[in-house]
Amino acid sequence: MARIELTVDGAKVSDDVEPRMLLVQYLREKVGKTGTVIGCDTSNCGACTVHLDGQSVKSCNVLAVQADGGEVTTIEGLAQDGELHPMQAAFHECHALQCGFCTPGMIMQAVDLLKENPDPSEEEVRLGIEGNLCRCTGYHNIVKAVRTAAGSGGGAA
Ligand code: FES
Ligand code: FES
Repeated sequence: MARIELTVDGAKVSDDVEPRMLLVQYLREKVGKTGTVIGCDTSNCGACTVHLDGQSVKSCNVLAVQADGGEVTTIEGLAQDGELHPMQAAFHECHALQCGFCTPGMIMQAVDLLKENPDPSEEEVRLGIEGNLCRCTGYHNIVKAVRTAAGSGGGAA
C-alpha cells in the first residue's frame, strides 16, 4: 500500500492505496466521485476524463499514486455556488447529450480545449474532442455546445 494525498474538487483527501489502483477507481471507489465514469477498458472513450493539475487526463490511464500531491477537478467540481459552469450550461442549452454517459468526460475535455483555444473553429473542436467517444449524438450538438460556450456564435445554427 502507498499513502497518497491530493486535492479533489477543492477538498483534501488522503488514503492508503494499492500502487496498481487507477485514478478513476480511486475517485469513484474511495472519494465517491461517481460522476466520473468508466466507459471502456482500452483507454479509448474518454468518459473518465478529469483535470489533473489543470490539464485533462483520462483517469483510467493514470495511477492514483501518480496523482499524489496533485489537484484533481472532476465534473462534480465544475459548478460553483450552485451555478452550472458555462460549458455545462451550453451542453444543456444545446441538447448535447442523449444517454449522458460520455458527458462528464466530454465536458472536462471541452473545458480544457477552450483554455488552450478560447475560440475554436468547428474543425478545431472536433479535433480537440477526438479522444472522447459518444455513442449517441453524432457529435453535432456537442460541437455546437462547445462553440456556444466559447461565445463564438457556433450555437446559433
Ligand atoms: S474509461 Fe478511460 S478512456 Fe474509457
Ligand atoms: S450521450 Fe450517450 S454516449 Fe454520449
